[in-house]
Amino acid sequence: MITKIFIGLAASVSLLSLSSFQQKTKFTLKESIERGKDIYITHCLTCHMEQGEGTDGFYPPLAQSDYLKANKKKSIEVVLYGASGPMKVNGYEYDEKMEGFAFTDEQVSDVLNYVRNSFGNKESVITPEEVKEARKK
Ligand code: HEC
Repeated sequence: MITKIFIGLAASVSLLSLSSFQQKTKFTLKESIERGKDIYITHCLTCHMEQGEGTDGFYPPLAQSDYLKANKKKSIEVVLYGASGPMKVNGYEYDEKMEGFAFTDEQVSDVLNYVRNSFGNKESVITPEEVKEARKK
């Protein structure tokens, strides 16, 4: 009898801890955007500016950026590996250099989810798995 109670108790304890673990690791867009905002302020704002407007002729805008909208995978690659050479954004040509960032898959997805859902943008979610896929093997 006592062992039965004990086994039942142990089972419910492990079930409980399993569900709280799942909660912690579950990826939600809302939380991703919140984390991404801090990353943006620390790492991107100096060039792409507070409202993602960029600077005329120098740093391209992220607000309403047709590049960002059209190139999900390329946008991931820009954050991972940087970009240089001519790049056309919203009809203007930019030709400066951006360094890549040594971010985790989650950090890349977070900052892009923030950018893609701020400054008037409303784009689909990028998961850490998609970032992992986009990394060059
Ligand atoms: C030192 C300045 C600088 C910083 C910091 C920087 N970028 Fe950039 N970014 C650029 C430049 C310059 C380009 C265009 C590169 C080219 O001309 O080939 C660019 C291009 C881009 C593009 C593609 C074009 C567009 O406007 O949609 C994205 C997306 C982007 N950056 C996101 C980010 C994110 C996210 C961060 C922070 C993690 C960041 N950048 C940090 C300078 C910067």
